[in-house]
Amino acid sequence: MDSFKIEGTRKLSGTIYVSGAKNAILPVMAACLLAPGKSILRNVPNLIDLKTMSHLLRVLGARIEHNGSTMSIDAKDVCFIEAPYELVSKMRASIYVLGPLLARLKEARVSFPGGCAIGTRPVDLHLKALEALGAEITIEHGYIHAKAQQLKGADIYFEKSSVGATINTLMAAVFAKGTTRLLNAAMEPEVDSTIDLLNKMGAKISGQATTTLTIEGVDDLFPVEMTMIPDRIEAGTFLIAGALSTDPVTVKNCLPEHLTSALDKLREAGCELETGEDFITVAGPKIIKPFNLRTLPYPGFPTDLQAQFMVLAAFADGVSFIEDTIFPDRFMHVAELNRLQADIRLERNLATVKGVKAFSGAEVMATDLRASAALVLAGMVADGITTVSRIYHIDRGYDRIEEKLNSIGAKITRENG
Ligand code: EPZ
Repeated sequence: MDSFKIEGTRKLSGTIYVSGAKNAILPVMAACLLAPGKSILRNVPNLIDLKTMSHLLRVLGARIEHNGSTMSIDAKDVCFIEAPYELVSKMRASIYVLGPLLARLKEARVSFPGGCAIGTRPVDLHLKALEALGAEITIEHGYIHAKAQQLKGADIYFEKSSVGATINTLMAAVFAKGTTRLLNAAMEPEVDSTIDLLNKMGAKISGQATTTLTIEGVDDLFPVEMTMIPDRIEAGTFLIAGALSTDPVTVKNCLPEHLTSALDKLREAGCELETGEDFITVAGPKIIKPFNLRTLPYPGFPTDLQAQFMVLAAFADGVSFIEDTIFPDRFMHVAELNRLQADIRLERNLATVKGVKAFSGAEVMATDLRASAALVLAGMVADGITTVSRIYHIDRGYDRIEEKLNSIGAKITRENG
């Protein structure tokens, strides 16, 4: 298994470029199942998770090509209904095929997604919503089996804000007879971009950027071309690299308006920021101020940046408190950061981070996507050499992260294990 060997330095500067958003592309790839014909997606990076989704869509009968940053998905001959265990177990987002298969083929069999390093990851909200639309759902031999001759519009209230359940239900409801209203729907930019795609395909969805979405059922959707939004979590990850550096770093090809809560937190920590239409320049402070952070549904602070911001807090001049209300178990990075001589205490889903002057390089292990990115950031500023093992976790959601970070002065070498 590959690992990163990182030589610590505080001198990072220059411009680093953001790719298309993994969490926007995954649902959009599944949504292409709804439109017989060839859809074209642009600004699509080379990520393990996107390869897994491509494999799954091919198993269902789609034809996919990914050249450079352009992906084509031809869903004309989609006719199979089963998302197998070996693919779903590799990537939970495979659950996104459930809604489209039910809507288009009136039946789906999707392996019940397991948990992962950040939590049990239930899908009860997905299933409850599909049943409200009239689907008949049974769980048998580890598979979700959903059937519906004709889905019917309904009012659906989500007792928890869920990106996945909102998007899956949206995709199931596009052909439902009548009107569907989703109440307490998630508002993440990735939900928004999925709605943009579906409406471009001919769906009738309104209420974007609110927590109440209305879907008027239609009979057909048609293939389209669309450029994917930039990855706000990749951008936020790179901003932390700049915040830890003694020189300014510019993060390019991003949308500052998708990162409002994260930018507020950087300013609270003493960073100076300059933003434009598609860039953010960050200058780290000489003395990082401690800050408190609680993750919340969008537009609140994103749980996907919690681990990365913990690295910044670990160098603050004082004590910071970090609470994850979305994934209470998302703290696998704490023990690894403490191996680098951070001083972090954990009680349930609240981390108390006492700032230290320096990290001391060591061997650490990646456990999940965002925790791994945090370990890379930590290694970049640690004294001496840090080795991060199991970096396939990183390649799931970052396209050549070492090349991008080395372009602003990091010293990261990929070693084949
Ligand atoms: C999406 O996961 C993202 N994944 C996650 O990013 C992200 O952390 C998460 O949204 C929150 O923003 C993708 O987009 C592929 P949720 P998702 O449903 O949809 C609970 C990354 O690092 N819940 O919004 O699975 C759930 O346990 C990944 O890129 C239920 O209880 O998240 C959590 O506490 C990690 N029942 C909360 O809701 C359900 O049926 C929010 O989860 C569904 C969710």
